[in-house]
Amino acid sequence: MRVAEAPAWLALGEDALPGGGDWLTPAERQRAAGLRFRKRHDEFLLRRLVAKHAVATVLGRPPVPATLAAIEVGNAPGGAPLVRVDGVPLGADLSLTDRAGWAVCAIGPGIGCDLELVEPRTPGFVQDFLTAAEQRWVTSRPAGDARDAAANLVWSAKEAALKVLRVGLRRDTRDVEVEVGDPGPDGWGPLSVRESLGRRFPGWWRRSGRFLLTVAGTTAGPPPVLLTGTDRLATASPRHSWAGRPLR
Ligand SMILES: CC(C)(COP(=O)(O)OP(=O)(O)OC[C@H]1O[C@@H](n2cnc3c(N)ncnc32)[C@H](O)[C@@H]1OP(=O)(O)O)[C@@H](O)C(=O)NCCC(=O)NCCS
Repeated sequence: MRVAEAPAWLALGEDALPGGGDWLTPAERQRAAGLRFRKRHDEFLLRRLVAKHAVATVLGRPPVPATLAAIEVGNAPGGAPLVRVDGVPLGADLSLTDRAGWAVCAIGPGIGCDLELVEPRTPGFVQDFLTAAEQRWVTSRPAGDARDAAANLVWSAKEAALKVLRVGLRRDTRDVEVEVGDPGPDGWGPLSVRESLGRRFPGWWRRSGRFLLTVAGTTAGPPPVLLTGTDRLATASPRHSWAGRPLR
């Protein structure tokens, strides 16, 4: 299956989740049924929904239930997403993330992405999970939104790079060091994540309203293009709709 090489992304909010399950494969329905906690269940579905919409868009297929049900979003043994379309491997990499009722899918060679909220992080978090250089950069920012954004940005870029490495948080977050540049007029700023073994993972970050999105990959390239519409994260409100009713 041929998929364009240029990196692309899409965000969807939980309001987009269909009521029924005809857009899921039998295996996805079974996995969802086994998730007792509403948070895990809803986030699982939202990540599937955004992945299926993104894949349908790059394949030029309409995002109708039959199309979406032909796209299976499974997982490799380590947890990385594994997509089949009509039973055939997609032949392209994608990465999934969600935060506060919103999910993002990024598609591109060797890609990893992560979505975070700009929210306060404790000094203990910064000390425990960031390298000394990252800590210096974060604490050099003015206290308040700028420092919160910096701490979340560094954390997010680490998660994106650890998804590129297909290890996630099994790896010590201080094994990868993040550097970021200022955003350009398109809202994307460059980032680079250096692994302790010397490899570098270039990528991009953007602040969209209350959210921060980071994307990293194995090779340098242009910022990801939005697959359809406008950046809905820019005006999105964080949602925690599971909080009042944790069990399904
Ligand atoms: C990858 C990881 C950091 C993401 O955690 P998170 O920030 O809570 O969640 P996000 O919403 O940003 O990302 C979730 C998606 O990451 C992807 N993912 C999971 N493990 C991954 C890995 N090893 N490599 C790349 N991507 C991975 C999956 O697509 C997952 O969504 P899905 O399960 O619905 O397919 C975390 O799941 C992790 O470290 N996993 C590996 C270790 C592990 O499984 N530990 C047990 C649970 S703590």
